[in-house]
Amino acid sequence: MGNLENHFGDDASLDIEDTKQILDFLVKNSAENSTMQSSLMFLKSIDNKDIIAMSQTDFWEKTHRDIPKEIFDLDEVMSKSNCKACHTDIEKGLIENENIKNINSFIF
Ligand code: HEC
Repeated sequence: MGNLENHFGDDASLDIEDTKQILDFLVKNSAENSTMQSSLMFLKSIDNKDIIAMSQTDFWEKTHRDIPKEIFDLDEVMSKSNCKACHTDIEKGLIENENIKNINSFIF
């Protein structure tokens, strides 16, 4: 949020009010302020490494290592960062086991 004029090659600058609102949301919903087990696992895994994506953490790599790599290239999934393709309740901040899509339901 501190360098939005150079956001992955794009200028994503916002006015002061929007910046403040988004920053407040991010801080309020950050892993540091969560009591969810997975948040703590991600934080521990990030440690002080320079990681900008959850899917780059050792914790993510470990919990997803049994998933065939081709699944992430399917049209329904598209990328590792599309958590919702497999974790249907992730927008509520939840990763309940019963809501993880069955990997065998993806057709190759
Ligand atoms: C292709 C489907 C798929 C995608 C995309 C995916 N996951 Fe998962 N994830 C799974 C599966 C399947 C498991 C369960 C693995 C197991 O138990 O062996 C899992 C497990 C997890 C767990 C561990 C849950 C636990 O209770 O141990 C976390 C946390 C998690 N995923 C977070 C994420 C996040 C965050 C993203 C996006 C950055 C993501 N996943 C993207 C399929 C996916």
